[in-house]
Amino acid sequence: MNVVISVVSSLSPIARKQLTQNLVNAKNRGEYFSISPQSIPALYRRLNMQLKHNMALIAVALDDDAIVGSMYATFSHFPTRKNLAKFNKLTVNPDHRGQGIAKRLFTELEAAVKKQGKTVSGFYCHADNPARKLYQTMGYKEETRPDCSSDCLISLHKEL
Ligand SMILES: CC(C)(COP(=O)(O)OP(=O)(O)OC[C@H]1O[C@@H](n2cnc3c(N)ncnc32)[C@H](O)[C@@H]1OP(=O)(O)O)[C@@H](O)C(=O)NCCC(=O)NCCS
Repeated sequence: MNVVISVVSSLSPIARKQLTQNLVNAKNRGEYFSISPQSIPALYRRLNMQLKHNMALIAVALDDDAIVGSMYATFSHFPTRKNLAKFNKLTVNPDHRGQGIAKRLFTELEAAVKKQGKTVSGFYCHADNPARKLYQTMGYKEETRPDCSSDCLISLHKEL
């Protein structure tokens, strides 16, 4: 399989449809997204607007024309947070997992974000998500409340 990672700042209607479907499928498998399936199309419409205004970047993993994985970064309007890029919705389709695609999505998106002058990235993960191991491998530091239980959200940061 020859999967290509690409960081883009715009989405075609077909790409948006695929991303929406991938996330709906993930949600239907019961994966860890605190989002309702009904709000997923609106999420990618909003992302499209953010991309148009240089307030986001998205990394996609392409197997031929199919998007088999993705993660996006959003940037803040607030002057005090202008260095902060938040990473969102990392997902790799089940038949493409275990091949290092998530790691490659991270590596490419981090490099693109750094190029835009962002020094710190942050995103959230549920405490009981096995993907925490991946973030540790990628050098992310965790911030948790002392009373954090299995379903609480952990904030992850890394100086790029
Ligand atoms: C998490 C996810 C994106 C990983 O994708 P992937 O392409 O299979 O990950 P990679 O192949 O790049 O794995 C990278 C590393 O993370 C580890 N890892 C990845 N997923 C893991 C899991 N579910 N459990 C334990 N370790 C995991 C791998 O062992 C690997 O480490 P290694 O190279 O030292 O062996 C994928 O399982 C997924 O889409 N899960 C559902 C959605 C989700 O939970 N997203 C995260 C929201 S916070």
